[in-house]
Formats: sequence, structure tokens, C-alpha cells
Amino acid sequence: MFDLLKRRFPPPSRFGTKGHSKTHLEPRMQPAIRNICDTARWVAFFRALETRRPDALFRDPYAERLAGERGLQIAGALVDGSKHQWAWVSRTYLFDTFLSREIQNGAEVVLNLAAGLDARPYRMDLSPSLEWVEVDLPEIISHKRSILDGESPRCKLTRYDLDLADTEQRRALFTELDSRGKKVVVASEGLLIYLSDAEVGALAADLSATTNFRSWIVDLASPGQLKLMQRTTGKQLSEAGAPFKFGPPAGANFFVEYGWKPQAVEGLLKTAARFNRHPAELESLLPEPKGVLGNYPWTGVCLLERASGSSR
Ligand SMILES: C[S@@+](CC[C@H](N)C(=O)[O-])C[C@H]1O[C@@H](n2cnc3c(N)ncnc32)[C@H](O)[C@@H]1O
Repeated sequence: MFDLLKRRFPPPSRFGTKGHSKTHLEPRMQPAIRNICDTARWVAFFRALETRRPDALFRDPYAERLAGERGLQIAGALVDGSKHQWAWVSRTYLFDTFLSREIQNGAEVVLNLAAGLDARPYRMDLSPSLEWVEVDLPEIISHKRSILDGESPRCKLTRYDLDLADTEQRRALFTELDSRGKKVVVASEGLLIYLSDAEVGALAADLSATTNFRSWIVDLASPGQLKLMQRTTGKQLSEAGAPFKFGPPAGANFFVEYGWKPQAVEGLLKTAARFNRHPAELESLLPEPKGVLGNYPWTGVCLLERASGSSR
């Protein structure tokens, strides 16, 4: 295993607003982020960091290898790229919690859309009879295979390299998976923020047009949080063709018209505070307001349930 995280991590000041343009545009260096696939390496970097903590909320023994040298570089070169560990970790923790709950409640198939370098089928306590399906773009699927092919997942695992923007292909996949189990739980960690309202709506409608896709776990930013992220890390992501776009004013209710009912909503900051992992300077943001969030900077994870009778 590489031991990347033991290396001296560049001090954050080097990557502050002042030095940033120089650092990420140095000749012969790769851009901070090349395309949307690199965001998977970035998330894996945070899972690798968490795994090393004695009080880790989850452990992913594969994260360091999956993130690789590139994951470390990305975290160092993006503005705020190595900050907010509490948020990344709370997000993964909440997806783990909701997924475990849905599996305990009878889900037979997990469909992980934009699975990236997530190693849940290898690290979670799962029944061997559970079917786990991962979808991502070819670049990430092939990198993941190159790292994990010798390892044994704890359940039945299938991977699809597929562009989820291709409506025909994704509908065909959803139709195929719809017959695999009576209860399918969908997860899309870290995907929707890169889609427009119309793209998220279309995906939501395709997912709810199935018979057995019963729940969907998504992460969400408030409009205020979206603006904040667009002003910081979002600039470099935009340059790489992966701008942050989705932060609906209606919050989790955005999904209602597409056949999905919010069942549980958990904020990342509130979750981090439960484990005393939140930054002191954000304490004034707690407790989270209820209802419309507007400019309040909020990110969270929502469990959506398929409203009965919805169809494409
Ligand atoms: C921020 S990463 C999250 C990855 C993973 N869910 C996680 O939490 O580690 C976003 C992922 O979305 C994938 N992605 C973005 N657009 C996609 C598309 N059109 N089709 C399939 N995957 C896509 C990227 O390749 C990347 O792996």
C-alpha cells in the first residue's frame, strides 16, 4: 500500500487565495482537477484521512490506495481542498447509516450511482446475498478495478461504466435492475451538486418510473451553501468542466414533483457536532433552522421514499 498520508502535507497557507493561482498553474504541473472523475479521488482522500484517526466514524482500508498520489495532489491544489474534513466524513457516515437502515429494512439491491472510489461493498457488514451495483464513468471504473480486482467484496458486486447523462442507457439499466429485487435502494453521494435542476429532475423521474426502486439517498446543499462553494473551490471545478450547480431553494421538497417524498433529513454540521467533530467557528450556526434555508449555509443527507403510484 502507498503511504501517501505519511508524507509532509503542504501547509494550507500555500494554497490560500493569494498563492493559489501560481500553485495550481505552475508549468508542467497538471491542473488541480482535470475532470469530474478527479472528484472521486478527492473524496477518497478524506476517507483515507478518517481511516487513520483513532476515533474514526468509519474505516476504509482501501481509500488510501484508491485516492493515490493524485488524490493527495488534488486535495493540496484545490482552494479549501483539504479543509472541512468534518463535512466529508459526516456525509459518508450518514450515507452509511441510511444504507444500513434500508438494508436492515429489507433492501435486496443497492444501486450506487456515481459510486466513484467508494469501497462500501468491501468495508461494510453486508450479507453475501445482497446485490450491490455500482455505476460510474469508464475512467473511474477502470481505475477502481485496477486497485480492487484482487479483493473480495462482502456481497454480490457488479460494476457498470456508464454515463448517467445518457438517458437511454440509464433507463435501460434501471429497467434491468428493477427486476433484480423487490426493494432497491439508490444512493448518489456527491453527484447531484454537479447537475442542473432539470438534470436532477429528469434523473429523479427516471428513478421513480421503476416499480421496485423504493428509496433514494441524496446529499444536498442549500442555495447559500451552493453560492459559497461556487465562490471558493467551485471556480477550479468550473474550469475543469464540473461546476457546482444544484442547491434547490425547496431543499428536499424539490424531489416531490418527481415522485420522491423526503423521509429523513440530517445536516452535516449537526451530525459532526454529535461527535464533537464540528469546527468551533461554526457553532453559531447551530441549531439548524427549520423550513426554508435560503442563504443559511447548509449541507445534509436526505432519505427519499418513492411516493406510491409515480411513473414516467
Ligand atoms: C464527488 S465524486 C463522488 C464519488 C462517490 N460517490 C463518493 O462519494 O466517493 C462524483 C462522482 O460522480 C461521477 N460522475 C459524474 N458525472 C457522471 C456521469 N454523467 N455518469 C456517471 N458518473 C458520473 C464521477 O466520475 C465521480 O466518481
